[in-house]
Amino acid sequence: MSAPLTLPDYRLRPDQVPETVVERLPPAERDRLRARITNLLISQGAVLVAHYYTDPELQRLAEETGGYVSDSLDMARYGHDSKAATLVVCGVRFMGETAKILNPEKRVLMPTLAAECSLDLGCPAPVFTAFCDQHPDRTVVVYANTSAAVKARADWMVTSSSAVEVVSFLRDRGEKILWAPDKYLGEYIQQQSGADMLLWQGACVVHEEFKGLELAELRAQHPGAKVLVHPESPAAVIKQADVVASTTGIIRAAREMDADTLIVATDNGIFYKLQQAVPDKTLIEAPTAGKSATCKSCAHCPWMAMNTLTRLAHTLETGANEIHVDPDIIERASKPIERLLNFATERKQQIYGRSDA
Ligand code: 13P
Ligand code: SF4
Repeated sequence: MSAPLTLPDYRLRPDQVPETVVERLPPAERDRLRARITNLLISQGAVLVAHYYTDPELQRLAEETGGYVSDSLDMARYGHDSKAATLVVCGVRFMGETAKILNPEKRVLMPTLAAECSLDLGCPAPVFTAFCDQHPDRTVVVYANTSAAVKARADWMVTSSSAVEVVSFLRDRGEKILWAPDKYLGEYIQQQSGADMLLWQGACVVHEEFKGLELAELRAQHPGAKVLVHPESPAAVIKQADVVASTTGIIRAAREMDADTLIVATDNGIFYKLQQAVPDKTLIEAPTAGKSATCKSCAHCPWMAMNTLTRLAHTLETGANEIHVDPDIIERASKPIERLLNFATERKQQIYGRSDA
């Protein structure tokens, strides 16, 4: 039997993670920017597509201007279906890139191109490509939270709502998996599917901060509460979950569960849509601080927070921060994404946001 591989740790160091800075504007300035952005969207035939983790101001503006709020893949699908020639993606860079890959003929703008993702940053394409080349016997499955160049090297792309089904399907075909980049999500998929998986050692700096010990204490204080967990969280948190689900799945589960109190382990930007979905329920953030606190991002993604009204107005005024993806990469990266879309259609599985939120 060959010796187990020890893979390098690709998690970011604390000094590589920016502070989470949330824009706070005086009401008059905020209203002026909102009106300005609305006019610019109309005059440019542009549509605002925002992720659940962005500032509620942006989510609200997207809804009020005929745009859309959802998870990463559904944002791209919406962009594809929309008649708008310009998509303004409020989220992180891989979301802008996926929108561009699925809609190469459209202009894709973002409030800032500095909005990265720790999973994407922790999986550099040249290193990842070399790693894949060392394991030609494995099917390469990557998470949506990766660069276009990493997707271009993959056989399949999955989202958190589709990962277990896709990997189980590949396991049934006798395939061994090389998974990247999130090790916690990878461990969860491995445990659920029983597949032979080699795991890249990346992590989300936001979800990694949720604490098993403090969550157990919080549950003891709220005995009737149900726990909803995103699978990017560590195993000690996942094992206490009543539901493990993607962002969209968490909103749907919150609606369907009969509990009055819900403890939620994901970025707290989701509380805007969650509270809309279940206005009569009490929502509590799962703990990131406490006895074992190390958190810097504390349940709010520093890169998502870079999407501000001020930057959005600037982007629309100047046309700055356009997403460009090399046509060769678009061609190769679209294949693993389309494989997932076809799989979902064949299985009639709902991997999209609003329809299952
Ligand atoms: P979704 O794909 O569910 O939108 O999640 C993206 C993400 O960044 C989770 O941390
Ligand atoms: Fe990436 Fe985590 Fe931020 Fe999601 S919350 S965009 S996985 S760093």
